[in-house]
Amino acid sequence: TDAPAHDGFGRRIDYLRISLTDRCNFRCVYCMPALGMQFLPRPELLTSDELLLVVRAAAAAGFRKIRLTGGEPTLRPDLVEIVAAIKSTPGIEHIAMTTNALRLGKLAQPLKDAGLDRVNISIDTLDPQKFRQVTRGGKLETVWEGIEAADRVGLRPIKLNAVVVRGLNEEEVPQLAALTLTYPWEMRFIEVMPLTGVADVASDGVVKTEELIAQLEAIHGRLDDLGLAPTDSARRYRIPGAKGKLGFISAVSDPFCATCNRMRLTADGRMHLCLLRDDEVDLRAAIRGGASQEEIENLVRHAVALKPWGHGLPEQVLPTLRGMSQLGG
Ligand code: GTP
Ligand code: 5AD
Ligand code: SF4
Repeated sequence: TDAPAHDGFGRRIDYLRISLTDRCNFRCVYCMPALGMQFLPRPELLTSDELLLVVRAAAAAGFRKIRLTGGEPTLRPDLVEIVAAIKSTPGIEHIAMTTNALRLGKLAQPLKDAGLDRVNISIDTLDPQKFRQVTRGGKLETVWEGIEAADRVGLRPIKLNAVVVRGLNEEEVPQLAALTLTYPWEMRFIEVMPLTGVADVASDGVVKTEELIAQLEAIHGRLDDLGLAPTDSARRYRIPGAKGKLGFISAVSDPFCATCNRMRLTADGRMHLCLLRDDEVDLRAAIRGGASQEEIENLVRHAVALKPWGHGLPEQVLPTLRGMSQLGG
């Protein structure tokens, strides 16, 4: 395996986010439209063998970190086998997953045993009624059991993700932040990004990080600023004396494109070069045409070289062919 590839802007690209399915057992209002969602027919999805070929090729092209996403990655029946195989791929140093935790109660232990390092879990409110509203029917209690299971088996450090939407869950922020007084978790607040299908939520729904920090400092006094690690999506803070940390992902008010280290693999086998752009490189056609691992590696390197600079948010809302749920955030 070689050193990580660099894109045309000198960014070192070594983090691959793999969408295992475009389906989800929730339908969060900022992620999926209420109606008219078209899911990929099964034959369109990469099989686990095809996916693992891409992982080996990506590792050879210098990728070091894998994150499994969806839709909801735990809906994939072969998830545990996929994790074990990725974990044993030479060159891959870190494997994580982003999930809604609904199925973690049962899956946390097998995933840990298969070699999963840690999980990021979406939770936008601690109020069961509001939770049902945001997820369109989800049960908070089951999700909470999933979070506790992940913690118990050691899928740590646990990060919780809350997408903050004006008029929907902005009042939930203090309660969510207060979780860090009790638990050694990282609670992250995310500026909602406008993507296809959910623009009605996102267009005037962004609550800027600046505003959230002011809101929390009015309660707790000055937060300790723990800074921003080089390729991290979140800037970290701590409520004085708290066990856990706070993170703020300011994808709209302060984009992190300049230090971007990531690309995506869609469930139907396209390298998706930037979250908020449409540019893709089709790996599936090559795989199904009989390409060798080395040929796929070359396509992955080609994709890295083509990676666009990033997005023009907030000035410019870019139309995208795929929505959040198809890209795994
Ligand atoms: P860590 O490995 O723990 O740092 O996770 P992460 O923040 O990379 O991933 P996660 O899946 O938890 O995503 C958190 C938020 O960051 C979500 O709202 C994602 O949509 C957003 N995000 C992830 N990658 C990108 C990206 O490349 N660009 C932008 N603009 N947002 C991203
Ligand atoms: N804006 C920002 N984050 C989003 N996510 C889903 N939709 C959006 C959006 N419109 C988040 C999920 C999950 C992560 C993968 O992406 O909450 O935590
Ligand atoms: Fe990277 Fe594109 Fe996200 Fe910017 S918008 S951080 S370039 S994936």
